[in-house]
Amino acid sequence: MTAPLLEIDRLSLRRGRNTVLDEVSLSLARGRSLGLLGESGAGKSTLAMAIIGLLREPEVGLSGSLRFDGTELTELTESRFQTLRGRRIGLIFQDAMGSLDPCFTVGSQICEPLRRHLKLDKRAALERAAQLLDSVGIPDARARLSAYPHQLSGGMQQRVMIAIALACDPELLIADEPTSALDVTIQAQIMTLVMDRVRALGSSAVFVLHDLALAAQVCDEVAVMYGGQIVETGPSALLLETPLHPYTQGLRACVVELDSHELEPLAGNVPDAADMPPGCRFATRCPKAGPRCTQVRPPLVELEGRRVACWVAQGEPVGAAS
Ligand SMILES: Nc1ncnc2c1ncn2[C@@H]1O[C@H](COP(=O)(O)OP(=O)(O)O)[C@@H](O)[C@H]1O
Ligand code: SF4
Ligand SMILES: [Mg+2]
Repeated sequence: MTAPLLEIDRLSLRRGRNTVLDEVSLSLARGRSLGLLGESGAGKSTLAMAIIGLLREPEVGLSGSLRFDGTELTELTESRFQTLRGRRIGLIFQDAMGSLDPCFTVGSQICEPLRRHLKLDKRAALERAAQLLDSVGIPDARARLSAYPHQLSGGMQQRVMIAIALACDPELLIADEPTSALDVTIQAQIMTLVMDRVRALGSSAVFVLHDLALAAQVCDEVAVMYGGQIVETGPSALLLETPLHPYTQGLRACVVELDSHELEPLAGNVPDAADMPPGCRFATRCPKAGPRCTQVRPPLVELEGRRVACWVAQGEPVGAAS
């Protein structure tokens, strides 16, 4: 068996006194895609930023391990990170307009990583930039190279971001809610496009998403996060069909297409990071919570083809709810 491309082991991240990521463990094999799911504030973007080295000591407190192709990322110098970012790890952010530089043409922004990382000369870089724009479905790609970002629609800007992220054929793509700023009608189209390109490269991907159904459609595996912890992770189809954690069950109930009218969608809010309950962090909203849940944190254990952190799912008594 080959080693995973990305291996995260008990990664914790603190901002001041708040534990924003709490012992997150995940691994991703080459050629596989993982969807990170959970409500706003769960820590998804924090995890994505930590993987690409944009949240580091001493700005935040880090413990645990983050390995990419066997290299420990938490110990990497910034200059070595810069040779990984954009070259072996591609990034797509939610806000294309904020990520593209308004002062430079689309062509020069796609050529920049090609020239820096792949050492292409100007002519070869422009040639490849046009091919990349074409591959992400931008019509009349060659002419678009001289356009400035504001001359393109939001959807076209997002396609340019995808072309930049994939310019150097990265082994890992990290995409943080890559389509949530776009019209719903083009979200699925763009996600499919990204996945087709990732598959064509044989690369791996981590997608931050907030829709379980979309995650099941485009990702091999999902990891559901709550309050900075992984609460359930496994094959996406399995988690969509038979979620075991009450929080995943709640997310599933939010997928309206699943004729789940008998299920209550999630009520209440994620507790503040400064005010997390000591046991299971979901206990304040969980319909199955008992006294034990509020006292002792359930471990993430293997169960029925996935890993889940819930006493009730694990068949443990939690005491009577008061
Ligand atoms: N720049 C920041 N400074 C301080 N706290 C932050 C910052 N960004 C995020 N947080 C906190 O970290 C937690 C996780 O946020 P985030 O990773 O953005 O969640 P998600 O992407 O799942 O919505 C939240 O409690 C949020 O308030
Ligand atoms: S451990 Fe208890 S509170 Fe947490 S999800 Fe399971 S039943 Fe609910
Ligand atoms: Mg986020």
